[in-house]
Amino acid sequence: MRIFTTLAEVRAAGRELRAARKTLGFVPTMGALHEGHLSLVRAARAGCDAVTVSIFVNPTQFGPNEDFSKYPRTFAADCELLESEGVDWVFAPQVEEIYPPGAITFVEVAGLSDRLDGASRPGHFRGVATVVAKLFNIVAPDKAFFGQKDAAQVAVLRQMVRDLNFNLELIVCPTSRDPDGLAMSSRNRYLSAAERQQALALSRALHAAERQAAAGVHDPAVLLAEAHAILDQEPAVRLDYLAAVDPDTLLPASELGNGILLTVAAFVGTTRLIDNVILAGA
Ligand code: PAJ
Repeated sequence: MRIFTTLAEVRAAGRELRAARKTLGFVPTMGALHEGHLSLVRAARAGCDAVTVSIFVNPTQFGPNEDFSKYPRTFAADCELLESEGVDWVFAPQVEEIYPPGAITFVEVAGLSDRLDGASRPGHFRGVATVVAKLFNIVAPDKAFFGQKDAAQVAVLRQMVRDLNFNLELIVCPTSRDPDGLAMSSRNRYLSAAERQQALALSRALHAAERQAAAGVHDPAVLLAEAHAILDQEPAVRLDYLAAVDPDTLLPASELGNGILLTVAAFVGTTRLIDNVILAGA
C-alpha cells in the first residue's frame, strides 16, 4: 500500500491506472476508521480494480465551536487497517495541500445545504461539498463510496454530482452498526460507558418506527410520534432534530409514498450523534 501526501503523486498513479484500462474506486474519510468505513472499502474493493482511500480531517466542514482540533486522529492504526483490507493507495494530505493560501472558491448546494444537519451546523455542507469536489477532481475515480449513515451528506453530494457533471458513479452503502444497534461513528469514542448506553435510544426509536411502518402505518406524523416517545424516555439525550423527509430533497414528507428518510440527530453529553433509517414506500 502506498501513502501519498501530494496531488501530484495521486494524479500520476491515476494516469498509470487509466493507461492500463483499470477502474478506480474511492472512499473519502476523515480517518479514525471503524468497521463502517471498512464496509465502504470492501464494497470498493469488490467493485473496482484499485482502491484509493483519503484520510483528511477537513477544516472547512467544522464550525468554530466544533471538534476540529480534538477530532480523533489515529493515522498509524488507520493505515494498518487499510493495508489489511488490500487498499492500494492512501491519500493523506496536509491542510495546505488541499487549501493553499488564497483559495476562495467554494461549492454550495443551495437549499439542500441548509436542511437537517445543515440547519444545525451552518456552513457544514458547504465545507463537505467543497472538499469532496476537490477530492473528486484530484483522485478522478470511476466510483465513489459513501455511507447511508450520513443521509443528508448523501443527498447533498448526489445533487452536486448531477449539477457539476462529475463523471463518476456515487454508491451508497448501508449503515454498519454495533451488535446492540448503535450506528458506528468515529465520534462514539468520545462517549463514556453510561453515555453509550443512553445513545442506544436513537437506534431504538428509529427501529420502533420502522417496525410500525412494516406493520402498515404510513402516516409520518404517527411514525414520528412513536420515535419521539422512545427518545423522551431517555432524558440524557438532547434532541437536535427528528424528521421524516424525502431522501432526495430533505423536505418534510407528508406520506410514505416512495419511501421516507426517518432521521435523528442528538447530543449525548457533548457528543453529537446522527442516525437514520429509510422506510420503504407502501
Ligand atoms: P467520515 O465521517 O470519516 O465518514 C467517511 C465515510 O464513511 C462517509 O461516507 C460516511 O457516511 C461513512 N460512514 C461513517 N460511519 C458509517 C457507518 N456506521 N456505516 C456506514 N458508513 C459509515 O463523512 C465524512 O467523513 C466526511 O464528511 C467526508 C465525506 C470524508 C468529507 O470530508
